[in-house]
Amino acid sequence: MQAVQSRMETALSRLLPSADAIPARLHQAMRYATLGGGKRVRPLLAFAAGEITGAPSERLEIVASAVEMIHAYSLVHDDLPCMDDDVLRRGRPTCHVEYDEPTALLVGDSLQPLAFELLTRTELGNPAQQLEMVRLLAHASGSLGMAGGQAIDLGAVGRPLDLPELELMHALKTGALIRAAVQLGSLCGNALPDAEQAALDRFAKRAGLLFQVVDDILDCTASTATLGKTAGKDAAADKPTYVALMGLERARDFADELNAQALDALHVFGDRAQRLKELTLFITHRKF
Ligand code: IPE
Ligand code: IPE
Ligand code: MG
Ligand code: MG
Ligand code: MG
Repeated sequence: MQAVQSRMETALSRLLPSADAIPARLHQAMRYATLGGGKRVRPLLAFAAGEITGAPSERLEIVASAVEMIHAYSLVHDDLPCMDDDVLRRGRPTCHVEYDEPTALLVGDSLQPLAFELLTRTELGNPAQQLEMVRLLAHASGSLGMAGGQAIDLGAVGRPLDLPELELMHALKTGALIRAAVQLGSLCGNALPDAEQAALDRFAKRAGLLFQVVDDILDCTASTATLGKTAGKDAAADKPTYVALMGLERARDFADELNAQALDALHVFGDRAQRLKELTLFITHRKF
């Protein structure tokens, strides 16, 4: 994990505009929001999926950076006063606190197209596949993916969701980008037989939902210091979460169930999925 994390830090730093490029303040804020923190779970998933398909790491670095830039932008906007209104992210002041709200908006506006620009790079080497990558990432980011999930989240404050609605919200706001990370990583290598492709996607969907169920659990069980973001915000804001809907114990049981389903989907790959299996356990048992 550390090897991929440090490789990603270098790649992201190289692929972002330099801090002195005009407009410097915007570029500094983009670098602030993207570099120097984060678990890099989506890049880790892309690399691990690419390992299954024999993908070269120069390609994985680019698609993983694209997904991570969309993720970083989603966090900047998620923290804005008009959304979750949080002042702490990755152990530091949120982007709009460190800079200002208009800059934070523009950071999102700029990271998003940069992610798609990366997918057009010649290193990826296969225009037809690159079109497919653009389509997948666009779908995962927009109103039928992350942004749509965020809309359901904001629209549901103070109004109880039922389980299917909550699952859809989580699958979209967090699951979609995680699924895209796995898809883009695997697309950097050799095509998989249909049955394996379907198994990998089944894995990605379970892992994506699992990630947000654990995020909900951590919000009410971990400390602000450990999380590097304000703990207890979901209950305070009356957010729909798995813990709010089913209680802590059942939410934990559900996370264990999703963990088992995700691992089960990887069975067909044998040892080739070792790293994806380890990442699944990390997602389930992480403390931050
Ligand atoms: C937090 O994501 C927001 C969610 C989508 C749940 P991460 O927990 O991956 O945040 P970083 O990137 O490690 O800071
Ligand atoms: C965030 O969900 C999902 C995003 C698309 C950013 P949360 O609002 O639960 O994420 P945190 O807890 O602030 O990281
Ligand atoms: Mg939110
Ligand atoms: Mg939030
Ligand atoms: Mg959360």
